[in-house]
Amino acid sequence: MKKKDVTRRDFLKSAAVAAVAAGGVRPVKAAPALLSSSSPGSTVHYGFIGTGTEGCDLLKRLATIPEGRCIATCDIYAPNLKRGVETIGSNPQTYTGSPTEYRRMLERKDMDAVLIATPLNEHAQMVIDSLNAGKHVFVEKTMYFKEEEGEAIRKAAEANSKLVVQIGLQRRSSVLYNVAMQMIRKGALGKVMFVRAQWHRNNNWRRPVRDPQKERLINWRMYREYSGGLMAELASHQVDVANWAFGAEPVSVMGTGGIDYWKDGREVCDNVEVIFRYPEGRKMLFSSILYNAHFGFNEQIMGDRGTLIITIGKGMYYREAVAKATNGKAKEDWWAGATVTEQAVQKGIPLFPDEAQRNQGFLDRELLYARRWLASMGIYDYEEPHEPYWMELSNFLASIRDGKPIACPLEIGMADARCVIYGNRAIDTGATVNWPKKEA
Ligand SMILES: NC(=O)c1ccc[n+]([C@@H]2O[C@H](COP(=O)([O-])OP(=O)(O)OC[C@H]3O[C@@H](n4cnc5c(N)ncnc54)[C@H](O)[C@@H]3O)[C@@H](O)[C@H]2O)c1
Repeated sequence: MKKKDVTRRDFLKSAAVAAVAAGGVRPVKAAPALLSSSSPGSTVHYGFIGTGTEGCDLLKRLATIPEGRCIATCDIYAPNLKRGVETIGSNPQTYTGSPTEYRRMLERKDMDAVLIATPLNEHAQMVIDSLNAGKHVFVEKTMYFKEEEGEAIRKAAEANSKLVVQIGLQRRSSVLYNVAMQMIRKGALGKVMFVRAQWHRNNNWRRPVRDPQKERLINWRMYREYSGGLMAELASHQVDVANWAFGAEPVSVMGTGGIDYWKDGREVCDNVEVIFRYPEGRKMLFSSILYNAHFGFNEQIMGDRGTLIITIGKGMYYREAVAKATNGKAKEDWWAGATVTEQAVQKGIPLFPDEAQRNQGFLDRELLYARRWLASMGIYDYEEPHEPYWMELSNFLASIRDGKPIACPLEIGMADARCVIYGNRAIDTGATVNWPKKEA
């Protein structure tokens, strides 16, 4: 990529290329629109299933994206349905009542697409039904709950191969993460061998429930019938980052965990600690605990020449102090400027620095120079980014309408779901779980 050419279009392109690079992922063809209302330039009509916390977060963003219009919403819980309608503000028709009421919504011929943000155990059937009803699908992470559901979804997607399927792993749509992945691909971290990630909180992870009858509906995350616990809800985001950084899926996972602190009737662990092993000895270490929030959540991606510490909205690059010779050649070419180099070693360099600083000193100016230099190499995108949630939704609608590449296609979601399911199996059994051998 050359200077001047680094635009959002390039970012979307590079995001798609990077997406394809992860986890042995097959290239995904952009889908041509099926229905007349989703031909290029027209408005995508969509329905929304599950207007709870995440659903409303998405609807809030969708309300600002003119390429689509919400014509229907479906939720079995009246207060959430109402909140969804108010959030989107497009006066959608509502569907409620039985858990299969969404199928009535899917019968609508004037609907091009469906977005799904229901509890995990419901994802697979809803995705399959939506695809078979001819709708493009956006489904929240984790893509599916049980191992066999993955292949069932794949079959439905293959039978409806012109439909877009996008998974809600929003880091895939983050400019910051895409910059980080470009840095990795361009060698800024050297040989990347290790990802350490944690998602630590200090609360019980429960939602308040007034009517005890609603406990399982509202606190579905606590119960194994519906939930994959911390692995599905939190690790899913971070192990996907490791898959992306390594450009591979794990080969095995070992883990532990337990209900050791919040002994309140929950069925899922309040702490999990797992190690994923990738090809060539690379590893990812993940922990999630609900009794200390000190380290919060981020991913630390480590190579023999540097480290990236990254989370949504913030990324730092740290250079290794010792410049190592690789292949007999000292790799001093990546970073320019002695002060910047020193800064990167000692305090780190922000990936998304604040351009609006006033009264810039010498160091600030040198940092600015470094950012421009990164941009000139096509590593850094100067364009003002949208937040990843907005980007993933905009990307979904653009894929349907204009055939744009999909930021987080099915294969990435499937690789991610396998990590969650095998991780939980390792925790439950105490045994190392190996990935199935790939057919030759
Ligand atoms: N991408 C992210 O960062 C992110 C963040 C939070 C949640 N999520 C995902 O979003 C999904 C929903 O999580 P949440 O926190 O919004 O849960 P929630 O409980 O707040 O919302 C789920 C909604 O689905 C409704 N529902 C359940 N069964 C239904 C059915 N059969 N038909 C119609 N509606 C039904 C519930 O009534 C509820 O309103 C989960 O898969 C979760 O992992 C993703």
